[in-house]
Amino acid sequence: MQRNNYQKAIHDPIFSIITGAAKELGASTYVIGGFVRDYLLQRGTPKDIDIVVVGSGIALAQKVASKLQGKPKVTVFKNFGTAMIKQGDLELEFVGARKESYDRDSRKPVVEDGSLEEDQKRRDFTINALAISLNASDYGALIDPFDGLGDLDRMLIRTPLEPGITFSDDPLRMLRAIRFATQLGFEIQLESLRAIAENKARIKIISGERIIEELHKILACSKPSIGFGLLHKTGLLPYILPELVALEGIEEIEGQRHKDNFWHTLEVVDNIAETTDDVWLRWAALLHDIGKAPTKRFHKKIGWTFHGHEYVGSKMVYKLFKRLHMPLNDKMKYVQKMVMMSSRPIVLSEAYVTDSAVRRLVFDAGENVEDLMTLCEADITTKNPAKQRKYKNNFKLVRQKIIEVEERDHIRNFQPPVSGEEIMQTFNLKPSKEIGIIKEAIKEAILEGEIPNEHGAARDFMLKKGKAMGL
Ligand code: CTP
Repeated sequence: MQRNNYQKAIHDPIFSIITGAAKELGASTYVIGGFVRDYLLQRGTPKDIDIVVVGSGIALAQKVASKLQGKPKVTVFKNFGTAMIKQGDLELEFVGARKESYDRDSRKPVVEDGSLEEDQKRRDFTINALAISLNASDYGALIDPFDGLGDLDRMLIRTPLEPGITFSDDPLRMLRAIRFATQLGFEIQLESLRAIAENKARIKIISGERIIEELHKILACSKPSIGFGLLHKTGLLPYILPELVALEGIEEIEGQRHKDNFWHTLEVVDNIAETTDDVWLRWAALLHDIGKAPTKRFHKKIGWTFHGHEYVGSKMVYKLFKRLHMPLNDKMKYVQKMVMMSSRPIVLSEAYVTDSAVRRLVFDAGENVEDLMTLCEADITTKNPAKQRKYKNNFKLVRQKIIEVEERDHIRNFQPPVSGEEIMQTFNLKPSKEIGIIKEAIKEAILEGEIPNEHGAARDFMLKKGKAMGL
């Protein structure tokens, strides 16, 4: 057992308050988990602090709260035997040491009080089982019965117990292993990786919300493909995102092949991770091609096609969000819109880039036009340097044109320069379909560049149009 001194990690005055409270209760207490791991990895000082006590976590939390200024509220989770206190920007979670075994059909642990070591044993990974003593007798000592410190050095994700037990106890840990590997750039120990593959079907008992929390974290990493590659390798992906698995593979008919859209997608996600931290834009990158599996066709003359995949893909986004209990709100609509429009700038940049096509793009994408360009630039994964250069230059041109068109025509968040009210007054009309026809004609004339986006020009156009309609 390592017994080095890590008092520096626990210099915050909150820790000595916890020490005092535990002493009064006659219980020994430790800081454990992510706080210790991230301190040792020099990943900054985490704001979430997990405290384990050999005794009652709830009683310790109440005692600590009574000693703190302002007597903060203690939130008690009776079912889990845990309690939480918020103090400034710190979130302190208190739990009694336990030896747990889990009900096989749910994540509900059957909890019994235990020693510190029994508690450490039931934790997910050796690097998360590291504890620092808060007891006066050995304040700051590192308690590391499973060589978590060595695993931090070796950059290894390893379970304290036989991995089959750890993962079967709580299948969410399979995703956590992959998430930590992606976040920290660690390897998952081979036996643990095998155990994930063996236990993969048990992910079914985990709620969509918990799964999504981990997927978000994987997507937020600098190289999300590591995580998605591991989800694929272990066989977890079909249980979580079968739509992505369906994109895997290259088919060849009469010498014509299409690219492997699964591995292409992962490249796109890595590319976009270099340019944006917006997790929803990263989701859009992950899902931008999902409509390609159901729309794939082979035509003798033109080869492989994926007609309408953007539309089909955007419909699939809704189903996928619903299945995983993701919010069906404006974030989902945003991802749908990005998927729906994901080919537009590419098509546009392949031909001569006209002002009217750019105006239409800005009109349809509205405030998301920059995000759409970011997605499309990330979508360039060709290994042919000449093509790569060509596409990038074309997109530069599109971006330039967007700025020019915007300065001139203010198409983004388009407001009709002539209102329905004005049309009704001018032609002495009651609400009727003619008003819609005139409004649409004005909008089209602006997008086509026939008239500028200004009231005067639009009014002249309206008068002509009305005359032509016999109004
Ligand atoms: N833990 C576990 N099994 C889980 C979840 C958590 O054993 N399924 C234990 C680990 O010891 C973990 C600690 O509880 O370190 C705290 O969990 P949590 O706050 O979810 O994770 P952190 O390790 O703190 O990391 P992060 O904040 O990055 O999620």
